[in-house]
Amino acid sequence: MKIAPSILSADFAYLARDVEKVEQAGADLLHVDVMDGHFVGNLTFGPLVVQALRPVTNLPLEVHLMVSDPGVWAPEFAEAGADTILVHEEATSHLYGVLQHIRAAGVRAGVVVNPGTSLSSLDEVLPLVDQVLVMTVNPGFGGQKFLTPMVDKVARLYQLRQERDLHFAIEVDGGINDQTVKAAAAAGTDIFVAGSYVFGASNVGDAITALREAVK
Ligand code: DX5
Ligand code: ZN
Repeated sequence: MKIAPSILSADFAYLARDVEKVEQAGADLLHVDVMDGHFVGNLTFGPLVVQALRPVTNLPLEVHLMVSDPGVWAPEFAEAGADTILVHEEATSHLYGVLQHIRAAGVRAGVVVNPGTSLSSLDEVLPLVDQVLVMTVNPGFGGQKFLTPMVDKVARLYQLRQERDLHFAIEVDGGINDQTVKAAAAAGTDIFVAGSYVFGASNVGDAITALREAVK
């Protein structure tokens, strides 16, 4: 399993310090939630934050684009040093092209589905992506409750991957803690985003260890 702490729940006044903490605690990558106040009702970071983080950590940076114009912003985040860029299916009518451009820039490309979006809308792009992110909350905010029906979606995605002999990583995002992680792992998740559970803990190392222990 890979654990991707979401910096949305970090202390922004001490971002580098918090990133260092999770890196030392054994996080596998960092999840950066980019929100534009339009695609979702919250505003967060731009490419400058990714650019600022790049030299202070060795962890891969994955950028979760919750913006209305992912095709416009993806190149900026690629340039800023993103290792993976995740694009919502719902955010663009040019999904295939946006994913192609991300890959052409030498960056891993991923597609994201909101809870209400069917996996069938990903049929044509699955062979093109390195990662599929199944939202397990409605996007926009940290600290929400895990949507249990999404476990079945993960299981169907896992099955699809096998049937079509594809190799994308399966990721979940939202409401992950030492309980919800179990069902998500059993359904076939490879990468677990965790924001408030990790950064809200008194010891981030203990929180990361508890996630790993929960799925053993
Ligand atoms: C929600 C974000 C998540 C969020 C997860 O829109 O995409 O990455 O940070 O936070 P938790 O783990 O607290 O649900
Ligand atoms: Zn996210």
